[in-house]
Amino acid sequence: MLINEKFFYKEEEKVNTIGVFKNPTQILYGLGVTDQIRKIIDEQNYKNILIITDAGIVKTGLINQITRQLDNINYSIYDQTQPNPTVKNCNDALDLLREVDADAVITMGGGSSIDVAKAVCLLATNSGSIKEYEGIDTCVNELLPLIAIPTTAGTASEVTTFTVITDEVRQYKLTVGGVKIAPKWALVDPLVTLSLPKHITASTGLDALVHAIESYTSKMANPITKALAREAIRKISNNLRQAVYNGDNITARDNMLMGSLLAGLAFNNTRLGNCHALSHPMSAIYGVAHGVANSILIPHVMEFNTLAVPELFSDIAEDMGENLEGLTLMERAAAAVDAVKKLSKDIGIPTTFSEYKVDESQIDRMAKDAMLSGNIAANPRITTYEDVIELYRRSIGGVLVEVI
Ligand SMILES: NC(=O)c1ccc[n+]([C@@H]2O[C@H](COP(=O)([O-])OP(=O)(O)OC[C@H]3O[C@@H](n4cnc5c(N)ncnc54)[C@H](O)[C@@H]3O)[C@@H](O)[C@H]2O)c1
Ligand SMILES: [Fe+2]
Repeated sequence: MLINEKFFYKEEEKVNTIGVFKNPTQILYGLGVTDQIRKIIDEQNYKNILIITDAGIVKTGLINQITRQLDNINYSIYDQTQPNPTVKNCNDALDLLREVDADAVITMGGGSSIDVAKAVCLLATNSGSIKEYEGIDTCVNELLPLIAIPTTAGTASEVTTFTVITDEVRQYKLTVGGVKIAPKWALVDPLVTLSLPKHITASTGLDALVHAIESYTSKMANPITKALAREAIRKISNNLRQAVYNGDNITARDNMLMGSLLAGLAFNNTRLGNCHALSHPMSAIYGVAHGVANSILIPHVMEFNTLAVPELFSDIAEDMGENLEGLTLMERAAAAVDAVKKLSKDIGIPTTFSEYKVDESQIDRMAKDAMLSGNIAANPRITTYEDVIELYRRSIGGVLVEVI
């Protein structure tokens, strides 16, 4: 009996476990796919539309690609979304949704606009404030239908089952998750990313790379998510420099957007890791752009994690094109950290938070908030409050403490 039990245990260990792979969103991908909006509206017979975006997208003229398709459709535009969008953004957009009596929402923009749109679609059919829905599967009713058009190759919020909103009173980024949260359609069109300025291409692109790295090394990773994450790492590390320094290069833009999308499909099923857990308090308190916060933290988090899963970081180094010949396992893992540092340097990402004047006295509060994140549990190395404090110290350019 004992022998049999052991045998079964060993067999189970050999099996690839997937559990559930979720992707609730219908994805249309390709150059010019934004023009498919009208087809969806007509098929679904939507009459009143709220468009959620930000002032930057309106300024580029990108929003006309939607409005020119809306002849005979009643619509309003909410364009006040801020980076690291707030509870107020959600409430204001919801007021407009009720004024226009919208039966569907279209969002065009980066993760900030898409996240506000997800929250508004939730609040349109569920009562109260978005603050009451922190957690997973917290709302009862189905959401208003959402069509998402991402304009950054970064967050992949167009396919994820999360929305991240800043509670400006608590200075805290809250996450609302569950399959209902995902947009119904994602129109993923590389052409709308051509206007991204250099610095936003750099930080949002590195955010996408962080998604792929954190998903690949997540404790929740499975063979499907790992394959998606590795392809995302290859695409992003081979194309980010070109997208930053030659923004008109449509092949680079295409590969970046596809890389971001693949990373999103992966992390949607695995959560992320310490980098995202630590970046959210930094953004909530100091207003650091999401991509910038992750870009600064990632080398420190990778160094911390290489000790736990060097074989996974060795794979990442290989995918990033490092020459690993003759190196030991730990040297190969370290090469992944170097590859990310080189990429960050080449695209002009700051290496510390020093310019944000982070107050040492806030570190305890930020570490406590970071420990509340579900991403800490998915991180491949067990992480304590003390570890988080030390990772923050390293990244703010303050006292350098060895994290071993
Ligand atoms: N829901 C999720 O799964 C998820 C995942 C990761 C991050 N996020 C959240 O997404 C937010 C960050 O989103 P982001 O990094 O995409 O940036 P963003 O949406 O805040 O946009 C940043 C800036 O880029 C400009 N911009 C965007 N696209 C442009 C284009 N094509 N041309 C010119 N300007 C353009 C915008 O006007 C804005 O000023 C954060 O709040 C973060 O927490 C959400
Ligand atoms: Fe991110």
